Amino acid sequence: MAYLDDLFSLSGRTALVTGGSSGIGKAIARALARAGASVVIVARREAERKAAVDELTAAGAEAGGVSGDLSTREGIRAAAEAAAAVYGEPDILVNSAGINLRPPLSELTEDVWDRTMAVNLEAPFLLGQRFGPGMAERGFGRIIHVTSQQAHRAFVQSGAYGVSKGALESLARSQAEAWSPYGVTVNTLVPGFVMTPLNVRLSSDPARVAELAARTMTGRNGLAEDFEGAAVFLASRASAYVTGQAIFVDGGLSVH
Ligand SMILES: NC(=O)c1ccc[n+]([C@@H]2O[C@H](COP(=O)([O-])OP(=O)(O)OC[C@H]3O[C@@H](n4cnc5c(N)ncnc54)[C@H](OP(=O)(O)O)[C@@H]3O)[C@@H](O)[C@H]2O)c1
Repeated sequence: MAYLDDLFSLSGRTALVTGGSSGIGKAIARALARAGASVVIVARREAERKAAVDELTAAGAEAGGVSGDLSTREGIRAAAEAAAAVYGEPDILVNSAGINLRPPLSELTEDVWDRTMAVNLEAPFLLGQRFGPGMAERGFGRIIHVTSQQAHRAFVQSGAYGVSKGALESLARSQAEAWSPYGVTVNTLVPGFVMTPLNVRLSSDPARVAELAARTMTGRNGLAEDFEGAAVFLASRASAYVTGQAIFVDGGLSVH
């Protein structure tokens, strides 16, 4: 066990997880907390955020929640300061908050474009600017983004969403280039189709669910829990030599 602890324990680390109140972010927050990190969740809806934090603290973890709206620059900055006030500057930053509004491209308004870019791309950028240099100065940091298949190919109205996720993978490489020499690794997790509230419209259609499952190699769609192991790995000492990478957690969907 000491060997595993040395590789993967997050004890003494602090983590900030945006979107940690639902879906993939919630599973990642739980995993980091169970691996020993003190976790702060940022999201807008209070009831969901409180439920997620209560679940962590009931399991004996150190966890706190911060109300934050990542759709504006002011909101992003305020959330960053509020989150850092809970357990101090984070060692681990997970950007899981994301929106997918899916209008057909011809009907995509500037408002949808701006909101999508703000939450999916600008928040990870500004949170990186706020916390990345400090991580580099301290000699350890982990930044984990959550992108999408749509960073790599267009389908089901990729529109602004696919653009934001493609750019987010580029941002990860830029951040990795800047801060990896100082012990800060930056990687992205690339989900396939995961049954979460984000895609309730698709996941409530059994025929579509079966069709998407058939496109994977494992024969099933993703669950939020499928991200736990990869997140702990990317947040831990074990991944010190993994940076600038897109790691597909998709049941083989992308290579099928
Ligand atoms: N599910 C999939 O199949 C899938 C596939 C590919 C990629 N992804 C990506 O995985 C990530 C997580 O998705 P998910 O499926 O777990 O979605 P989800 O269950 O809908 O969770 C989204 C989270 O983001 C938060 N959020 C949304 N807008 C926000 C805002 N303006 N400010 C602060 N927080 C905000 C939500 O909380 P509030 O609403 O309370 O703010 C919630 O905690 C996203 O980046 C998504 O693009 C998901």
